[in-house]
Amino acid sequence: MSENRVFVTRQIPEPGMRILGELEAEITVGQTREDAGLSRAELLEGVRACDVLVPLLTEPIDREVLAANERLLGVAQMAVGFNNIDVDAATELGIPVTNTPGVLTETTADCTWALILATARRVPQAHNYMVEGRYKLWGPNLMLGDDVGPGGSEVRKVLGVIGYGRIGIAVAKRAIGFDMDVLAFDPYNREGVESSEYASWADLGELLERSDFVTLHALLTDETHHLIGEAELRKMKPTAHIINAARGPMIDEQALVRALQEGWIGGAGLDVYEDEPAMAPGLAECEHAVLLPHIASASSDTRGLMATMAANNAAAHLRRERAPNVVNPDVYETEAYRQRVG
Ligand code: GLV
Repeated sequence: MSENRVFVTRQIPEPGMRILGELEAEITVGQTREDAGLSRAELLEGVRACDVLVPLLTEPIDREVLAANERLLGVAQMAVGFNNIDVDAATELGIPVTNTPGVLTETTADCTWALILATARRVPQAHNYMVEGRYKLWGPNLMLGDDVGPGGSEVRKVLGVIGYGRIGIAVAKRAIGFDMDVLAFDPYNREGVESSEYASWADLGELLERSDFVTLHALLTDETHHLIGEAELRKMKPTAHIINAARGPMIDEQALVRALQEGWIGGAGLDVYEDEPAMAPGLAECEHAVLLPHIASASSDTRGLMATMAANNAAAHLRRERAPNVVNPDVYETEAYRQRVG
């Protein structure tokens, strides 16, 4: 039996499993069912018995988990977001953490646009109307939605992008085809916005007041937690739509439910939730909410590429090499890392 052990918390797509299978390592999968996760005890047991951990965003990789194994050489998450991992603790403990950036940018931007169009034009509501056999007669007032482009008028709609990184830019770029004006807010990339051919800079308040569609593409941090709460929702136009395909806790979901129920805004398109997979009470009943189960990067090709990237990162951790997509590069300079890799 190999001395190297990789613990994959839940089965990842086949291209990644194939790469892992070719490593000189014993691969253990914690959970093979698609609809079930791991218990805390199973997670800890798996971590204690491995050299490299391959988790998903569904597992909290906190200090206790990271500290559970002093032989752990690295964490290779299959996701671009890593808010489920205590990266500061990992750095302190000398553990490199990797993610899967870039390969899901376009797929996530496409899904963001699916949400923009679906909430504006009420696509799921219209679909339900058909399959429930309620369509009896065409009517001029049937299922009226909002234009995404100028429609028949001269007035250009405004897309507000919060977080102007890879995905935010890809979403903004797609707005050109809809003849929209794009505003963007990103305190960490003001220069990127100001030199962008797709967007103009706006501070958060101005963006919320002027946009017809507001879409979130920031990382979830203490700073962006509840970035959109009651005050921000009340700043938006009563016809505006909010889109979130990033991380749920950036929006105060209870405030959002009130905003939808009381008509402070026109609609919401959500792929992520504050307490995923649960939804805030009342959200499922909101007529103007379009709700997806965190599938923004879920094309077969992209999930295969993400799995490949995670597996290659895991292989680098296992070989004690600098991993290609490390999110805490400073770790390699620490004494804790040197001791860990021996
Ligand atoms: C998906 O949400 C990801 O972070 O990859």
